[in-house]
Amino acid sequence: MVEIVKPVQMQRVVSDAKRRGKSIGVVPTMGYLHDGHVALMREARRENDIVVLTIFVNPTQFGPNEDFEKYPRDIDRDKAIAEKENVDFIFNPSVDDIYPEGFSTYIDVEGVSELLEGEWRPGHFRGVATVVMKLFQITLPDRAYFGQKDAQQLMVIRKMVRDLHMPVSIKDVPTVREPDGLAMSSRNAYLSTDERKDAVILFTSLRDARDQIAQGERSRDVIVNGIRNAINTIRNARIDYVEIVDPETFKSVEKLEDDREYCIALAVRIGKTRLIDNIFINNK
Ligand code: PAJ
Repeated sequence: MVEIVKPVQMQRVVSDAKRRGKSIGVVPTMGYLHDGHVALMREARRENDIVVLTIFVNPTQFGPNEDFEKYPRDIDRDKAIAEKENVDFIFNPSVDDIYPEGFSTYIDVEGVSELLEGEWRPGHFRGVATVVMKLFQITLPDRAYFGQKDAQQLMVIRKMVRDLHMPVSIKDVPTVREPDGLAMSSRNAYLSTDERKDAVILFTSLRDARDQIAQGERSRDVIVNGIRNAINTIRNARIDYVEIVDPETFKSVEKLEDDREYCIALAVRIGKTRLIDNIFINNK
């Protein structure tokens, strides 16, 4: 495995490989790797000649009062995990490499970026879309891998790729969970022991909602209130949102119809830790 820091060097390496007819699979991450990231790396490994893992804690997707500074980092551990998963290249640039002095071009994916996460984290998806565009320009992927855990992010990226005719195939991978059901996340490291125990309710409330729908419930309010009530039993929990949305547009729905797909998405702060999760409902 080779570590690369400079964008031009990364571009040179992948252009050479492409010229030799090799396919490139890219896994963008902010590091502090866990089994969710590993699932993406394995899928990329299965489908491509060359796998590039990018590790970059992207300042432009964090709000002024968010956790950019204290976001967990452990590059040595990340390298060991990547090595074990047979990653070919780690691209690990500095903030100055990606945003040099005077940088002023951004990607705004209108519509989907303004809802849910976008409402609670203004500018977040602008930062995500901009950095993912940059990472694609630097690593030239044939395929890029994203988790359903960040379902809205996935849709923002799919829309950017479609809207801008970008020659990359976006692949999604199901959410990897802890044995009790909590979605894996680098931010789970912030949770105290008690908070960690309580956090499983995010998943169980979504699972119960899915069962309720399978049994015929069609009212958005009944389903959302069920989830809110379960989450409100957690000490120190504050709900940012719980919504049932169309998984393409992330627009909220009022009444569920048969033969449609939905995503129930939520964001909850437990103490100082903000967690998101979602579940896809195939109402067929
Ligand atoms: P990060 O949170 O590190 O996640 C990197 C990728 O791993 C994302 O595609 C995310 O959806 C996926 N992922 C995270 N937890 C997962 C889980 N439990 N199961 C499956 N996949 C999971 O998302 C980002 O970084 C950044 O916004 C990024 C796209 C890298 C842009 O900066």
